[in-house]
Amino acid sequence: MYKDLEGKTAVITGGDSGIGAAIAERLGQEHMNVVINYHRNEAAANDTAAKVEAAGGKATTIQQDISDEAAADALVKKAVATFGGLDVFFNNAGMEKRCPTDQIELNDWNAVLDVNLTGTFLGTKAALDYWLANKKKGAIINTSSVHQQIPWPNFASYAASKGGVKLFTETTAMEYANQNIRINQICPGAINTPINAKKFANPEQYKSTVSMVPMNRIGTPEEVAAGAAFLASDQASYITGVSLYIDGGMTLYPSFMGGKG
Ligand code: BGC
Repeated sequence: MYKDLEGKTAVITGGDSGIGAAIAERLGQEHMNVVINYHRNEAAANDTAAKVEAAGGKATTIQQDISDEAAADALVKKAVATFGGLDVFFNNAGMEKRCPTDQIELNDWNAVLDVNLTGTFLGTKAALDYWLANKKKGAIINTSSVHQQIPWPNFASYAASKGGVKLFTETTAMEYANQNIRINQICPGAINTPINAKKFANPEQYKSTVSMVPMNRIGTPEEVAAGAAFLASDQASYITGVSLYIDGGMTLYPSFMGGKG
């Protein structure tokens, strides 16, 4: 646990499920105040809020589509109105659509880019506006992916969005480094979340994914949340612009395992 996080306020987009819900719950264990944004699943957001409070934090929920221009401002306003400020902003909401690139409809391409990349931009902008206007320090943690680095056939929109998030994170980290604002990203690999539920329920696909993980297993959302909490805390006070891969070694060229090549 990170003592300095106690009583601080965080916003998390897509906090109702998967990695977002695990991060929210971890922030509850850190005794933080958490604004949980969700898009559609109100019941899941309420469930996450209950878990945050059971763990010792405080929580409120807010419905917004993070790709809407006004959404991120509403989240910051909610944090300030409910908890009196904002310390950490997690741009976590994300989606993926499998499709061969020659068949992607523009609407589907835009939907992925709008949430994953533009949503991250809008969340960042809203948090920066608040911290700069109030001369406060802050931390942003973006949820990227191993696919900011590993090309992923049939997921070009997702890979392009995460590649964009990578340089957006690094660029903004540099831009605000001298204003007490740290901006980092977590890059999960294959994690046991709803986005992957169907894939991992298929034994063949499960086996083939695990074979690409040197640690030989799928990760848990809690293991990703642990990295996110670290980057939010003052223990990471000299860290900005990094990609923290939480992937069991997936980005280490596992096809070379055992000296192949
Ligand atoms: C995707 C997962 C995938 C993992 C490893 C993540 O970014 O969301 O669906 O299993 O990367 O390929």
